[in-house]
Amino acid sequence: MKIVRTISEIRQLTQSSQARTGLVPTMGAFHDGHLSLFRAARAECDVTIVSLFVNPAQFGANDDLDRYPRDEARDADIAGKAGVDVLFAPPVEELYPAGFHTWVDPERTGAEGAHRPDHFRGVATVCLKLFNIVRPDVAYFGQKDAQQAAVLRQMVRDLNLELELRVLPTVRDIDGLALSSRNAYLSSEERGRALALPRALTTGRAAYVQGSDPIAAARAALNGLNPDYVDVLELGDAKVLAVAARVGPTRLIDNVILEGELQ
Ligand code: PAJ
Repeated sequence: MKIVRTISEIRQLTQSSQARTGLVPTMGAFHDGHLSLFRAARAECDVTIVSLFVNPAQFGANDDLDRYPRDEARDADIAGKAGVDVLFAPPVEELYPAGFHTWVDPERTGAEGAHRPDHFRGVATVCLKLFNIVRPDVAYFGQKDAQQAAVLRQMVRDLNLELELRVLPTVRDIDGLALSSRNAYLSSEERGRALALPRALTTGRAAYVQGSDPIAAARAALNGLNPDYVDVLELGDAKVLAVAARVGPTRLIDNVILEGELQ
């Protein structure tokens, strides 16, 4: 696997190529959720490029940018063993050089956007940059961040981007907790309490199937966690029950599909 740090180098690799290219944008700290995206890209494309960039623009002032888990050597090892062809790991100045002043500002960012001002502006901007730099045929995202996938789909449509966006199911631990790089922050006691998220979503979905209010049912099953929101989101053709809650200092998000497919 090649590790590339500059835009010019990645362009050299991709520009003349006719190969079908898959891009998986990430912020590292790889887990099986990331690996499921790498595998899909490998299965569907000739070349798999993974970007590894902890994007400062999507973190708020009180967010966890400084303590976000970073271990490039470990991630490179995992990506290499997973058959990734290129790891694009630029330094911050490569993507945000002095004088950077242009942003993509999505307008419909749902309950998650309401709680994280400017978060999706940072996500959309970095993803558009990555799409322009790598020029993938397909870009892969996880349902775990359903609002993010919806914002990016809207951007692809609104800005006429020539790529296919694929959204793959959330990978969970056997106890139901959605895999997340941020799970590393949880103490074992907090991890136990965090299981209230997937359990509440399962309860909410069961209520929905029986014709009652999924939000009320999920809220009641949160086992004392105080959520930022429990909400039903319309994401394309899908209806999704989504929750965000803090467990200790760690903010976790999760969702389940009530109806339809994120595709
Ligand atoms: P990151 O949190 O590293 O996630 C990278 C991709 O992995 C995202 O598409 C995310 O939805 C997906 N993912 C995370 N956990 C998952 C799980 N348990 N199952 C399936 N997929 C999962 O999301 C970001 O990075 C950033 O916002 C990024 C898109 C890279 C822009 O900076």
